[in-house]
Amino acid sequence: MGSGIAEVAAKAGFDVVLRSRKQETADATIAKLEKSLAKQVERGKLEAADSEAILARVSGTADVADLADCDLVIESVVEDLETKKALFRELDAAVKDGAILATNTSTLPIVELAVVTNRPELVVGVHFFNPAPAMKLVEIISPITAAESTTAAVTEFASTCGKNPVAVQDRAGFIVNALLFPYLNNAIRMLENGTANREDIDTAMKGGCNFPMGPLELLDLVGLDTSLSILDALYDEFRDPNYAAAPVLRRMVTAGLLGRKSGKGFYDYNR
Ligand SMILES: NC(=O)c1ccc[n+]([C@@H]2O[C@H](COP(=O)([O-])OP(=O)(O)OC[C@H]3O[C@@H](n4cnc5c(N)ncnc54)[C@H](O)[C@@H]3O)[C@@H](O)[C@H]2O)c1
Repeated sequence: MGSGIAEVAAKAGFDVVLRSRKQETADATIAKLEKSLAKQVERGKLEAADSEAILARVSGTADVADLADCDLVIESVVEDLETKKALFRELDAAVKDGAILATNTSTLPIVELAVVTNRPELVVGVHFFNPAPAMKLVEIISPITAAESTTAAVTEFASTCGKNPVAVQDRAGFIVNALLFPYLNNAIRMLENGTANREDIDTAMKGGCNFPMGPLELLDLVGLDTSLSILDALYDEFRDPNYAAAPVLRRMVTAGLLGRKSGKGFYDYNR
């Protein structure tokens, strides 16, 4: 998600500092961005000069201190609250006063990140969808600690990026995942109890509901580890059985079957 968000912001004309834990990863992410832009030029969707200008706006680093002058930092690391809290403490110490710290979390309580910083009024959720360059929606999540001016600033940022922002309170799953994940979870249960095979479940939902992807294909795209974290966070908050992750999902994650990113999930991508 991080590389997609960097692409969106750089395309909108913002200077972007892309930070990974290792310089090699930051460089590899920029190389991936370069490849993606080259493809868009090849397809006639982007001018070569624009592609060069976009790339020139993106720099990569492993050092959090290089984010010091940013006005807005969007965190998009693994969906784990303790990891994100540790990173927010680090960001709070490194980034200039007055800068906004945003998270791309899919479900985690944003107030928990706000309160580990000395700037809770400047912490907010900016939830992009996957793949970020293609998906128009951005959920803007305001924890009870956020200042109205913070919410207004990130809403304007999303609009400048050509996205459609929607406003939502800080509740697990926000709007989209709170409604989507019971459906995805029930698709896994349906597969598990043998009601239909994976292809027929996906074909049925594409054909019957006009969805662009079936639920199992979508889970593979989102990542099964991320999906499990989302369901666990929803269940923790609401205790609704629809959010209790199907047992096979947890087993697949333990086995390293994470979907497209690992080459295998409900489908095999290595063939
Ligand atoms: N996958 C989706 O469809 C999707 C959609 C919207 C939002 N999100 C959210 O975006 C975030 C990232 O999800 P993803 O699917 O890109 O996950 P991912 O597992 O593909 O990528 C997470 C990245 O974070 C890195 N990372 C872990 N700890 C780090 C740290 N302390 N500092 C810097 N980098 C660190 C990992 O090395 C990895 O490259 C999560 O919060 C997720 O909920 C995901």
